[in-house]
Amino acid sequence: MDESTEVLVLGGGPGGYTAAFRAADLGKRVVLVERHSKLGGVCLNVGCIPSKALLHVARVMEEAADLDRHGVTFGKPKLDLDKIRGFKSSVVDRLTKGLGALAKQRQVEVIQGEGRFTSANSLAVESGTETKAIAFESAIVAVGSRVVEIPGVPYDDARVIDSTGALELRDIPKRLLVIGGGIIGLEMATIYGALGSELTIVEMLDQLIPGCDPDLVKPLERRLKRRYKAKIHLETKMSGIKTLKSGLEVTFEGARAPEPSVFDEVLVAVGRRPNGDNIGAEAAGLAVDERGFISVDSQQRSNVPHIFAIGDVTGQPMLAHKATHEGKVAAEVASGLESGFDARVIPSVAYTDPEIAWVGLTETEAAATGVAYEKGAFPWSASGRSLGMGRSDGLTKILFDPETKRVLGAGIVGPNAGDLIAELALAIEMDCEAADLSLTIHPHPTLSETIALAAEVFEGTITDLYVPKKTGS
Ligand code: FAD
Ligand code: NAI
Repeated sequence: MDESTEVLVLGGGPGGYTAAFRAADLGKRVVLVERHSKLGGVCLNVGCIPSKALLHVARVMEEAADLDRHGVTFGKPKLDLDKIRGFKSSVVDRLTKGLGALAKQRQVEVIQGEGRFTSANSLAVESGTETKAIAFESAIVAVGSRVVEIPGVPYDDARVIDSTGALELRDIPKRLLVIGGGIIGLEMATIYGALGSELTIVEMLDQLIPGCDPDLVKPLERRLKRRYKAKIHLETKMSGIKTLKSGLEVTFEGARAPEPSVFDEVLVAVGRRPNGDNIGAEAAGLAVDERGFISVDSQQRSNVPHIFAIGDVTGQPMLAHKATHEGKVAAEVASGLESGFDARVIPSVAYTDPEIAWVGLTETEAAATGVAYEKGAFPWSASGRSLGMGRSDGLTKILFDPETKRVLGAGIVGPNAGDLIAELALAIEMDCEAADLSLTIHPHPTLSETIALAAEVFEGTITDLYVPKKTGS
């Protein structure tokens, strides 16, 4: 062995660096192995962070354009793609450099290279022609996920891009086809629509963001259609792509499939798959299922008790905030603490325009599982703050247990929904009842008020709307 450590972390994304830092803070000697030169994984380098920097640019452009209706008209925006890319990269660089510094401060040894288990207590790290053998007492696997590829797509054609390619912003295609109406597809559509692309979106299921309640998705669908004249084809799959000089000729199949069309670029965003299949798991006796996921218990332990797994490689939802929480649990358990992953809910957010956020029970899930609930919903068309922002398309709804009046779930659509949903995640964790929300004085005029007002609708105490059915005391 070239070296030995107490805790070995494989993968330097949000799950991995969080686990490494927490274990080091708890006094462990930690080695963090990452194949790329920068820490941060998908989220910081080619995911959450660069996408939000570009979504910010898109949002400001849209708000500026909207002011035209309220008496302020700007000229047509001039796009300097180098500068936009520079802004995005500067945000990423600042954060990844920060991670490097945080690792040094904690004396976490970062080793760059491709890691593969060679036994249940050792890992080989390959970098160029060199291989380093590392012995460990416990390991935390945080290898994340990669894009799903589908048959029939000429991936070697530069005009076919995935989310990483879309974030590179090489150019603004005149005609962009987005395959997959999930969160990535719609966040990218929001960016490219604002920058001027003509959008076509195909989704194989019968709604955008399948699984999310349709009433939350509708305002986004309406805005994409109204604003960008986006053509949205549900229950449609791409059936073939022919590469022509003039573009990519795409044919479609499905219940509502359109005629073939030619596009300048095609973004494939049909999901992500875990990286558990490529880490020498067999040598460690680590069980990886046929899809590449690693099963863990509530302490993030795999079938090998001293090997933990966290983040995207452990299953859905593949979200950074889930990875970081799991990372802390794994580090704490590996350091001898009695920790466990016992979060009741994990919020989801699409940072589209409008944003869509949901947490806990959804109406779709309640209908499928027969869970009883009652709903309080407040339309933002009655929110002074929302109207003052020039927007009336939002909605805040909260699902309550009819017996206990406790919050079971919530969904919000509208600008800043992603920030607002945190209050409702806390409400669920704290077993809040409707009155806890309605009697908490929310500042006026804010979008956060819509949460208290939705609880008032449920209680029948609302005065901002006339809801005749209920007679709350
Ligand atoms: P990753 O971030 O995938 O990190 C895994 C790391 O392990 C990588 O750096 C990889 O290089 C390394 N690695 C893998 N195998 C090896 C090996 N054998 N040896 C060495 N290193 C290895 N989530 C959100 O919560 N909010 C968002 O807004 C959001 N936006 C997103 C936007 C896009 C475009 C994409 C693609 C994803 C987005 N996500 C978002 C999802 C989020 O990025 C992931 O859930 C998160 O990065 C998972 O963290 P992780 O630590 O499990 O894995
Ligand atoms: P996804 O699974 O969320 O959505 C993919 C969509 O493509 C689905 O609606 C699916 O029905 C559709 N689809 C699959 N095959 C298809 C085909 N052949 N033709 C047409 N449609 C097809 O995956 P996505 O959007 O790629 O994102 C991957 C993951 O990344 C997300 O699940 C999420 O975990 C994470 N992410 C999170 C973000 C956030 O939190 N804001 C932002 C972006 C990604």
